[in-house]
Amino acid sequence: MAQFKPFDMEGMPLEEQPLNWKDMTPAPYDKKTVDAYTRTRIILMNGIENNAVLMSHAIERMHPDPGVKKSMALMRRIDSQQQVAVNWLNPADQSVIETTLGYEQVAVDLTANLAQNEPDPYVKQTLDFALLEDFDHLYRYSCLYDYIEGGDSEMIVQGRTEVKPGRPTSIEHRHPFDSMRKHYDKETADIKTKMNYITITAGEQQTMLYYRAHGFMYPDEIARQLYAEIAEIEEQHVTQYGLLGDPNETMLEKMAMTELNEAYLYYSFAQQENDPRIRGIWESFMKMEIAHFNECARLMKQVEGREIRDVMKADAIGPLVVFEENKDYVNSVLDNQLDLAPNNMEYMRMRDLPDDWASFGYQRVMNAKGVPSEEIVSKAGPNLTERDQAENIRRVKQEMARRVEKGMAAVPAR
Ligand SMILES: [Fe+2]
Ligand SMILES: [Fe+2]
Ligand SMILES: [Fe+2]
Ligand SMILES: [Fe+2]
Repeated sequence: MAQFKPFDMEGMPLEEQPLNWKDMTPAPYDKKTVDAYTRTRIILMNGIENNAVLMSHAIERMHPDPGVKKSMALMRRIDSQQQVAVNWLNPADQSVIETTLGYEQVAVDLTANLAQNEPDPYVKQTLDFALLEDFDHLYRYSCLYDYIEGGDSEMIVQGRTEVKPGRPTSIEHRHPFDSMRKHYDKETADIKTKMNYITITAGEQQTMLYYRAHGFMYPDEIARQLYAEIAEIEEQHVTQYGLLGDPNETMLEKMAMTELNEAYLYYSFAQQENDPRIRGIWESFMKMEIAHFNECARLMKQVEGREIRDVMKADAIGPLVVFEENKDYVNSVLDNQLDLAPNNMEYMRMRDLPDDWASFGYQRVMNAKGVPSEEIVSKAGPNLTERDQAENIRRVKQEMARRVEKGMAAVPAR
């Protein structure tokens, strides 16, 4: 099993890390020839960098130590430049919807990879649960792509990821209280769990931000509505995943794990990248992250008197994160978990939910005037529309409609 051994890696000195304007803006890939998984690696790493920057800003605002603030400023500037360099690999002729399809392909194949390698059963269940929702988004956006741009999403997913309904987006809308989750224990959690937690939270956060920042860019009203609707599910995903992390980790511990995760992902992707120019970027950025990680470890020792090895409790992380086909895995989750729902921080079958489940009332309110993710299907071509007729999908929608009707009384704390 391939592993990542951060203590064996050489870092790049921090003072050598600033990028000049030309290196910060590498030429974009060609959307007609790029490998689907090169695109997903780029989309994910952009989100990973944005998350590192956002986390560092939060710490800058809350940490009392001036030395910590200064180190954060230095590392954050580099992460900021890396974010631009990675995001600028996306070409201008890739439309917002095409990029969106790439985002949902990331969500499907990343979540599936993490879930299959997640040691904590509750974290794995949380990944499987949301997997079916992002899988459905890929289908709804494929309908939008067909309707607005006359495009075929196969051009983006390249046969690696299936395009068909998952847990229907219309029934994914839940009361905020039903996004509550339990958190892992930082003392006993495996290092892989901590990495998976940061990776998926950052990925979902990026997706949420992208839909919010771009969903208004199409004049068509169904497009505007669909982005608004799915952005709200991504907000639910960011909330549920964010809550998996142990709040007892110190700020410096969280930053150290964030930097370690960046290094781990760049290392993972350098092993599988087939575009040599882009592989060079992953390799060089990995060396930068090793230095960020070492700097965080130094701060933890200096400010908190703690050793990074006592936090990690491991000197290798594995297996590596891989973008690859997961059709069999996704279909098995689809067969077994379509009707799962979260209640009181546990997952249960829809039929076992209490009638006063907060999300029944919430869904009734949200879907009162029609649901964009349903309306878009009827606007797409027959090839896509017929995929929505699957028996299991119809059944789960009917079951939810029946429960919403019965549970209409309560929308707690609305
Ligand atoms: Fe970075
Ligand atoms: Fe999604
Ligand atoms: Fe998501
Ligand atoms: Fe970093």
